[in-house]
Amino acid sequence: MAVKLITNIPGPNSIALLERREKSVAKGHGSVCDIYIQKAESALLTDVDGNVFIDFAGGIGSMNVGHRHPEVMAAIEKQLQKYIHTCFTVVPYESYVKLAEKLSNKAPINSACKAAFFNSGAEAVENAVKISKTYTRREGVLVFTDAFHGRTLMTMTMTYKEDPYKKGFGPFAPQVHRLPFPSEDHNLTFEDIDFDPKSIACAVIEPVIGEGGFIPATKDGMMALSNFCKDNGIVLVDDEVQTGFGRTGTLFAIEQFDIEPDLITVAKSVAGGFPLSGVIGKADIMDSVNTGGIGGTYGGNPVSCAAALAVLEIMEKEHIPTRARHIGQQTSIIVQAVMADCPWIKEVRGIGAMIGIVIIDPYSGEPDKLRTGRIHQYALQHGLIMITAGTYGNVIRTLMPLIIDDHTLAEGLNILLDALKKA
Ligand SMILES: Cc1ncc(COP(=O)(O)O)c(C=O)c1O
Repeated sequence: MAVKLITNIPGPNSIALLERREKSVAKGHGSVCDIYIQKAESALLTDVDGNVFIDFAGGIGSMNVGHRHPEVMAAIEKQLQKYIHTCFTVVPYESYVKLAEKLSNKAPINSACKAAFFNSGAEAVENAVKISKTYTRREGVLVFTDAFHGRTLMTMTMTYKEDPYKKGFGPFAPQVHRLPFPSEDHNLTFEDIDFDPKSIACAVIEPVIGEGGFIPATKDGMMALSNFCKDNGIVLVDDEVQTGFGRTGTLFAIEQFDIEPDLITVAKSVAGGFPLSGVIGKADIMDSVNTGGIGGTYGGNPVSCAAALAVLEIMEKEHIPTRARHIGQQTSIIVQAVMADCPWIKEVRGIGAMIGIVIIDPYSGEPDKLRTGRIHQYALQHGLIMITAGTYGNVIRTLMPLIIDDHTLAEGLNILLDALKKA
């Protein structure tokens, strides 16, 4: 299959929007692509100049069931005919309760669970910390290197990468302690810790690091963390904002680690592109907060809840986690096959369809952010939207919709391979 250059990227309509944007949109809110979207369907995006792209970014992992999935569309259209907002804090509705029931049943936790819903991933993590603090009556938070948990004061403090997420935003929240993330490169030990474990309310961990570079945790490391938490009365929070909803080959990635978290945070793909996030977890922990202590005007919006209920059905009906394993295998096999010809590819890693391709300078072995950027740009110019990740910006990550058909997947991978070889 020949990979073709799209000549007008960005096209005139995108350029006109770019010019308007420069005058009116704050610079701090950047965009990976310089094309503007017109329409999205399944795993394809069409820009305002009529160029069609294969989407390997999925709104940063929010579109696991694809753009405008017919069942998500039907669910939200039905909801739109009834009401779109009452605020659950003022007049509650069944879909919030139903979603809490369903997610509590699906959470890989062997005791009664409850849930609470918010808008963004950061809000979910922030609330998981609040709930852990009231439950334990402690103030400390334990996080890990390369972590990303959001952009609010608490979650930005918990995030590892300085530039751009923390640059100029200090002072940060107090009592946030950090240990090396338990990966193939680091065993997790608690021998030299410089904090009192009994001061820690919660440990928050991504089972596969997302923004920080698609680094899977080791089973041993997760087990060590789980034991440390149990021994010291620390709430274990599993941040599944990016890993959840089938991406890694199971509904929640933590199912593959033989441990049980106390709380799980979800967002992104939970509602098929609608803003929704949540904390699901052990009922006694969830119930430790006084009424009114958590919530918010839009948290658990009815249209988002309707979308999320449809997503849960699609997950089962279309075997999305199984599909993720297939997509991940295809991606790894194809990239591994070109590694011998591309000494700048250090490693292909990940679980399920959460695959990271690590790019280095073949001479120095150092992370190569510039080449990674060229690969990204080459792919875009040839019709593939991808995003990068990593503390050093040198990881190409795959977050394609998991409903992508085999033909489109093969076409996208073909462009990716060409980009990896030529850029
Ligand atoms: C693991 C993880 N936690 C939290 C967040 C923050 O989510 P949001 O951008 O919706 O606030 C992200 C976003 O990428 C994430 O990957």
